[in-house]
Amino acid sequence: MDQTAVISGAASGIGAATVELFLKKGINVLGVDLAPSSRDDANLGWVQGDVAKSETWTLVNEELTRRNWQADILVTAAAYLAVGNVLEITEEQWSNTINVNQLGLIKAVRSVLPQMIERKHGAIVTVGSIDAYLAEQGLISYCASKGSILQFTKALALDHARDGIRANCVCPGVTDTPFFRRHLDTASDPETFLKVREQRNPLGRLLQPEEIASTIAFLSSEDASGITGAKIVVDAGLTTGFDFRTGDEGA
Ligand SMILES: NC(=O)c1ccc[n+]([C@@H]2O[C@H](COP(=O)([O-])OP(=O)(O)OC[C@H]3O[C@@H](n4cnc5c(N)ncnc54)[C@H](O)[C@@H]3O)[C@@H](O)[C@H]2O)c1
Repeated sequence: MDQTAVISGAASGIGAATVELFLKKGINVLGVDLAPSSRDDANLGWVQGDVAKSETWTLVNEELTRRNWQADILVTAAAYLAVGNVLEITEEQWSNTINVNQLGLIKAVRSVLPQMIERKHGAIVTVGSIDAYLAEQGLISYCASKGSILQFTKALALDHARDGIRANCVCPGVTDTPFFRRHLDTASDPETFLKVREQRNPLGRLLQPEEIASTIAFLSSEDASGITGAKIVVDAGLTTGFDFRTGDEGA
């Protein structure tokens, strides 16, 4: 039977890499993004809209019905990030963070979960971050929202385990996407910041979006049939331990 995945944040970075991988696996994809699709594929549907708006999710359900697809998989990758401490981040930025990262996820889940429950089958993969369980300076609103995504995912997994639904959270480390590049540009010395971020990773490099997509695909698949409520960290080893090296020990 054909499978269908709804993927938010599908136009770029981790979401786009997941779209590519799912299409390669023969899974129908309905992408949701502020941006239009740059890809033409009979198995790819698209809703251009804001995940924070209910009308976007109404359109998603209409498009699923029009294509005679039912959501088997939901991947939520869209996110908003503001830089600053609690006082520097404006109320508008706080609202955007809550609306996109938290409400956007809640609306996505509420739009496809009923049909998953009806069919007693569904896999939800939320994209969190290492900032969901560790904090990072200057990203307080993002950290708070990502922590909430992780807890939301765990509670969702518990509430709907007996409905045949699995929900898991992928927590990426530093991944080379336009999102990270934009964050890099906020640094006073982006080149040095990039080098530091690469070298701090025990693997000695940034992650590629495809490495997060393959984990999302695993969690969405029957290979992960026993995994629910889990946090899967894909961070090139960054949060495995402390790094006390001074920089000349072969880093
Ligand atoms: N790149 C990293 O280093 C990194 C690390 C940890 C977690 N993440 C998480 O991975 C996810 C994907 O990030 P990415 O790096 O691929 O980013 P990206 O900017 O490359 O892609 C994000 C996509 O989401 C879309 N989007 C943003 N706001 C939206 C909205 N309101 N409605 C609909 N679409 C919207 C954007 O248009 C874009 O296409 C995010 O949840 C991010 O927090 C990224």
